[in-house]
Amino acid sequence: MHDVNAPKDSKLTLDAGGQQLSVDLYSKEGFDLLNSLLLKVGAEQKVMYEPTWLGRPIIQFANDVVVTQELLWKVKPDLVIETGVAHGGSLILSASIQQLLGEGRVIGVDIEVRPHNRKAIEEHPLAHRVELIEGSSIAPETVAAVKARVQGAKRIMVILDSNHSAEHVRTEMNLYAELVSPGSYMIVQDGAQAWVSDIPRGKAEWKNDHPLIAIDGFLAENADFEIDESCTRLGVTSSPRGYLRKTSSERLTPP
Ligand SMILES: C[S@@+](CC[C@H](N)C(=O)[O-])C[C@H]1O[C@@H](n2cnc3c(N)ncnc32)[C@H](O)[C@@H]1O
Repeated sequence: MHDVNAPKDSKLTLDAGGQQLSVDLYSKEGFDLLNSLLLKVGAEQKVMYEPTWLGRPIIQFANDVVVTQELLWKVKPDLVIETGVAHGGSLILSASIQQLLGEGRVIGVDIEVRPHNRKAIEEHPLAHRVELIEGSSIAPETVAAVKARVQGAKRIMVILDSNHSAEHVRTEMNLYAELVSPGSYMIVQDGAQAWVSDIPRGKAEWKNDHPLIAIDGFLAENADFEIDESCTRLGVTSSPRGYLRKTSSERLTPP
């Protein structure tokens, strides 16, 4: 990054395939366009593979890490269930806030926990707060194993970051929603897959198969969850419409 000349009346102009879009740089539209482009360019440059949390790689944009921290601190979950472990950074993020709170545990579910990742997670100073379950997040035996461990938990948060196909995410949402405590969150990550299908390393199929389809379908049928728009106020995010607050302990259907 470097200093660029951009005085107060500057325009931001995108020339995309011969079509031009121009907005005032310092307007709300300018901020929105910059973030929309930063998502695409950042994804192309694989920026989300860069952060670490307490030594473990966490596959997230920095804004999403900050907002997840805010929610962990606000809700103070004594149990976090996360599907999609990868290197374990997101498990350690939750465990680190729980460590400050003095209580809590994290269950990480992944279809394949690679041996070097398992070793690093199990040797981490916060390993005592983390339990790994290996298996598909939607397999009945995995769901049963998770449910067997929720007893006694008072505030449960669920983070879904495994397979990002619409069908898989919708099935996960249906299976795990009941575990989320009222006032807590189900964070459904990587809906922005839909918005990066056109980047050079993007895949055309992402445009029609992504978590936003699952989120929209789920919300249409489950009135006990609502999108918390404040969670995407920082700008670039992998999870548009993905921060869902549970408003009630009852399963509410839309009117
Ligand atoms: C994007 S990575 C998770 C990143 C991690 N949450 C983080 O923030 O660092 C996706 C993970 O989902 C796992 N995965 C893919 N399909 C899955 C499934 N059906 N059930 C559980 N995990 C799955 C992959 O093995 C991979 O480790």
